[in-house]
Amino acid sequence: MENGWWRGSGLDALLASITQLEQGLLRVLHALGLAPLVHGQPAWPFDMRVSAAMLTLDAAHARQVGTVLLLLAFAALALLLAALLRWPLRARRAAALMLGLGATGLGSAAWQWPSPVLLWAPAMPTSFHRLPEAAAASAPLHGAGLYARHCLACHGENGDGDGPRAAEGPRWPPTFNRSLLWRRSDGELFWHIRHGMRDAQGRSTMPALPGELPDEAVWQLVGWLQLHAAGQQLARAGEWQLPLSAPPMSVQCDGGPLRPLTALRGQRLRVVALGPRQPAPREDPRFQTVLLSPVARAQEGCLAVSEAAWQAYALAAGVPSQALAGTEFLLDRGGWLRARRRPDDAPWSDAMLVCRGNGSDRPAQALRVAASEGDGLDQLLARMDAEPVRPVRGGRLH
Ligand code: HEC
Repeated sequence: MENGWWRGSGLDALLASITQLEQGLLRVLHALGLAPLVHGQPAWPFDMRVSAAMLTLDAAHARQVGTVLLLLAFAALALLLAALLRWPLRARRAAALMLGLGATGLGSAAWQWPSPVLLWAPAMPTSFHRLPEAAAASAPLHGAGLYARHCLACHGENGDGDGPRAAEGPRWPPTFNRSLLWRRSDGELFWHIRHGMRDAQGRSTMPALPGELPDEAVWQLVGWLQLHAAGQQLARAGEWQLPLSAPPMSVQCDGGPLRPLTALRGQRLRVVALGPRQPAPREDPRFQTVLLSPVARAQEGCLAVSEAAWQAYALAAGVPSQALAGTEFLLDRGGWLRARRRPDDAPWSDAMLVCRGNGSDRPAQALRVAASEGDGLDQLLARMDAEPVRPVRGGRLH
């Protein structure tokens, strides 16, 4: 358990502070005119960024980076105090002490400095770009067509890298159905699709998407690829091995205003894909139910009417959209898709947890839950709460 803290909440805190530092730096540079807009968002001006993937893989490295950050924060505080104390004459000795402490902090940070090979990962101007909401929402409708036209020949029908032209280039296309798409940030995928890729000898390994297609189309491809890969994983392995944030949609509750699904975060949600003639399921006080329908219908409770969202949930579930009706999904309080119940499945049970948390330093809790009383749904919800998801994509918090 010695390393447990660095795999659990300590690591979360470290990742969160690095994300905030990087994004804060990007905002400051943008305000100073040093990070101009590229493809609509401020461009990261450096060749490198902190490799958060390495932090999640190597606990000793993570501990070292955390220590250095604390030492730097300590040194900054001491030096600030030294500067403030310099003015009144009487405080000269205190100022000298602070200066000494600050210098010691800096020296220790330099001494502890992690190996550059572990610390840095290559970056590109769009490394910190996020998939825009509008493109994420329209991706399910347009992504498949774009993919079939421009990508399928190499990457194959299901993204396994087995298209008819796969063997033509100097490198074989990768499969999208393992962890690749999760290891890249939205912006890194965008950059590679927009500008193509080259090998170390400068030969083109993947062509750029034709220039006449707008950035919007590239983002739609990114969003579609991510959903499609998640669906392939679920269909093949029976689980989402990597966490998936619930696809966006607009929800109206009891005739109120339309709100984004994210406005309901903080509570557990059940999303029910409701076919045209299907009756709404019974409410359950253990979660808020959101009914998803591709066509308008008169309905009490919370309702999302959207063809695009219907397609998105079908993609994520790895089923054709006409087979989605009757499927239910459970979202945890952070908005992550965690469990799925198919139309013909038995009542909810913890076997339907299809995204296990990656804060897996808490197995003891999970076992206690399994042994406790309550119906299958209670056990499922308890496991969802006991095994939270670490929201990392491309090494950054979602
Ligand atoms: C001519 C074949 C070909 C076509 C067409 C093609 N790709 Fe690729 N793609 C590749 C190859 C080969 C690689 C591996 C390149 C490398 O690693 O240098 C690749 C890599 C990728 C990657 C992984 C990038 C990463 O970060 O490692 C993504 C994502 C991708 N392609 C998406 C697409 C999309 C989307 C399209 C359609 C717009 C597309 N590709 C069209 C051959 C192709």
